[in-house]
Amino acid sequence: MSTPSISPAIKDALSALADQDLKSGIKRKFTADSSRVDKFSHDLGEFYLDLSKTHISDELVSSYLGFAKEVNFEQKRHEFLAGARINNSEDRSVLHALLRDSSNQGIAMVEPDTLEQAASSKAQFIDQYHAIQSKLDTRDVPVADIIHVGIGGSSLGTQLVFEALKQLNSLIKVHFIGNIDAHQLVDVLNQCRPESTLVIGVSKTFSTAETLQNLDSIATWFRRSGVSEPLSQFYGVTAAPSKAMDYGIASDNVVSFPNWVGGRYSVWSSVSLSAALVIGIERFNELLDGAAELDKHFYQQPLESNVCFLSAMLDHYYGNFLDVKSRAIFAYDFRLRSLVDYLQQLETESNGKDRQRDGTQVDQQTSPVVWGGVGTDVQHSVFQMLHQGTALIPSEFILVANADHQMDDHHQELLANGLAQTAALLAGQDLETIERLYKSENLSDATKHAKIFSGDRPSSTILLDKLTPKALGALLAFYEHRTFCFGVLTNINSYDQMGVELGKRLAKQVKPLLSEEANSDETQKSAEEFDPSTLSLLAKIKNSLD
Ligand code: F6P
Repeated sequence: MSTPSISPAIKDALSALADQDLKSGIKRKFTADSSRVDKFSHDLGEFYLDLSKTHISDELVSSYLGFAKEVNFEQKRHEFLAGARINNSEDRSVLHALLRDSSNQGIAMVEPDTLEQAASSKAQFIDQYHAIQSKLDTRDVPVADIIHVGIGGSSLGTQLVFEALKQLNSLIKVHFIGNIDAHQLVDVLNQCRPESTLVIGVSKTFSTAETLQNLDSIATWFRRSGVSEPLSQFYGVTAAPSKAMDYGIASDNVVSFPNWVGGRYSVWSSVSLSAALVIGIERFNELLDGAAELDKHFYQQPLESNVCFLSAMLDHYYGNFLDVKSRAIFAYDFRLRSLVDYLQQLETESNGKDRQRDGTQVDQQTSPVVWGGVGTDVQHSVFQMLHQGTALIPSEFILVANADHQMDDHHQELLANGLAQTAALLAGQDLETIERLYKSENLSDATKHAKIFSGDRPSSTILLDKLTPKALGALLAFYEHRTFCFGVLTNINSYDQMGVELGKRLAKQVKPLLSEEANSDETQKSAEEFDPSTLSLLAKIKNSLD
């Protein structure tokens, strides 16, 4: 067993703070300190973050600065920037930020050949972007649909960027096909015509079963409409170019990115080709610039005012000292409807781990469940639980001050609702207020009590002036670095994802059991490895197959 990562002294100090926080709540913190909003809000240029409605306090920050020293936080951040192989289980550096920091400011000491790789992968991406654009401009039949085939990190970020930054009247549609469930694929193919459809297959490994199967089926669809060699017209984006070529994609159509870009951190790379083709490379570069600005904040800002560290600190405090199991994120902007899916992968695939970096059992709570949705929809579904449920759920509100449409009434209502929710979570509503408000209504005691809101429920607010590419870039980089900070505090490797492998391996074993050859000796033997419940479900499915 390795040494626990929190020393008893820090643990005791934080437990004492938690006891006090549970008793006194958040509202009292505002009465006790009139400078609270200023003290715990941060203007980062591209967005403003208000943490004052959380349990943050000077004492909390000070204990976590002590904790950061114990875990050598500054040293670990330096190693990350310097390109040390911090993904130790896969023996890899984690350098996705190099793709956006083209001037290399803030990046400590990466090797020159790594810088060269970053520059050449970006150049290749831009060349391919222009090559496709000029083909698009000269085609007899203009491209109406792009099918982006990829899953997880090979699509979630691209989809988010596309939805957030496309013009509302964009003529090209991008369809994101990830799932092996062909109900989605059939639906998309029914909307497309082969002569006006471009296919981009994205896979870091170019070996993901879903992606290859979907590409195969799309190729078959092209062939059926008379295109004899469809694969030669597909584009491939990957860190394994030889695999894409072996699959049949023409070498000129393969765009590669370096292996030190993790799948869920790859939105900054050529993985976003399909989004860039629609939003334009200039706007894509602004996305990178916004992220690079946030990078500088993360690299240079002292921890006590470093938003990435402070937010991870709160995630850690809630999970480990206030028994919080989940965190909710509500974007009050329809264009950010895929943000939660993106952040779920980013945070839970990175930090949902039960092993420390040396392989021993972790001694802390790691990633909370990350969930959420889009305001105001969520107010009419899950907010009941947020306000009156028994679980403490810190929530995060993302508001965009200026809309990109002219329907001002809608936007004011949207903003008013988002703000009102954060105020309500904090304020709550006591019996006295209820009796005053409903004086004339002669309510029963049960009804009055059902209307009580405890309040003191933590929320943080991120305010963007406008949803520009720079603001989105900064926002996503903020979440990435927050994820890094949380991994350092919990002493885990945030950059592997071994937990996805067992299921994939077993799926390979289960598939033949569903088919006709299920009676062969080999498949029978493999069946013996499964539990009785799985075997019984398998039998039921087989019986009901047409
Ligand atoms: O199965 C999980 C995962 O490996 C993710 O980490 C990754 O983003 C996704 O699958 C897709 O992988 P690839 O880009 O190699 O197709």
